[in-house]
Amino acid sequence: MKFKKIAALAATVVLSVGIFAGCGSQQTSSSNKKKVIGFAQVGAESGWRTAETTSIKEIPKLDSNFELKFSDGQQKQENQIKAIRSFIAEKVNVIALDPVVETGWDTVLREAKNAKIPVVIVDRNVKVSDQSLITAFLGSDMEEEGKRAAKIIIDKFGKDAKLNIAELQGTVGSTAMIGRQKGFNETIKNCPNYKIIKSQTGDFTRAKGKEVMEAFLKSDGNNINVLWSHNDDMAIGAVQAIEEYGKKPGKDIFIVSVDGTKDMFKLMADGKSNGIVECNPLLGPQLLDTSKQILSGKLKDKIVHTKEGAFTQEQAKKELPNRKY
Ligand code: AHR
Repeated sequence: MKFKKIAALAATVVLSVGIFAGCGSQQTSSSNKKKVIGFAQVGAESGWRTAETTSIKEIPKLDSNFELKFSDGQQKQENQIKAIRSFIAEKVNVIALDPVVETGWDTVLREAKNAKIPVVIVDRNVKVSDQSLITAFLGSDMEEEGKRAAKIIIDKFGKDAKLNIAELQGTVGSTAMIGRQKGFNETIKNCPNYKIIKSQTGDFTRAKGKEVMEAFLKSDGNNINVLWSHNDDMAIGAVQAIEEYGKKPGKDIFIVSVDGTKDMFKLMADGKSNGIVECNPLLGPQLLDTSKQILSGKLKDKIVHTKEGAFTQEQAKKELPNRKY
């Protein structure tokens, strides 16, 4: 009898250990499951964008516990909305959105919230009626970039100079366009003789930048002193247009642009452009870090702005060998 009781007790202990061991191994296998980030990219319109895509695609190499699902929106909001909906259906752990424009995201981001999937907005920002639809934002302060661009011009010519400025705008409705334009215009308010005589979108691409600059030069070629371009690619296209028109970019027309790609640094080193405001596209490591914080329930900052600088021609020459994008 006594033996039977001991045997039964031993069996219970073995069974219990077995159950706990089973639970343990189940927990380990589920916590070993990779976390998935779904990234809805704008497109591939510029050198900056390509560098950002490369950086984002490095996430699984930086941490093998993470997997990336990548979607190229080809500059269309409807494609990005579709991508977010499939990320929701696939039950990814984090949705990251680099929005082509600021507005029109409320409905789809609410769907993500209802599915309990955190959303990180990357690079450009969104305007939503309910801030709880967004878990975090990481990217540049675009308004600050516009201010820095204006400061390069003021430092060169002084506040009282008489300047005719041509502006190449980025994609209309994007934070990169709205913020940069606002920051620039506010800063030159104190310069009574700075006039923006031309302003049109070149949609952040080289081809359109060239096309629009050709039109500017055709109608007002001899009056433009300064070209203010919302990104490097449009400025690179414009440099070609200026040369074809028979003027010297960087000398006859002072050029300032935002991004800081290697291609623009090379042009600066050759004296064909004059000022760069940096916008950092290497956001992969930051997105990984933010996602880890969110998934562990320890998000430090809801808004993280990237640290960035500005460069003159001389500084560009020195910096060129170190450029990573
Ligand atoms: O949103 C960032 C901007 O978008 C970059 O300045 C530009 O090059 C890109 O296309």
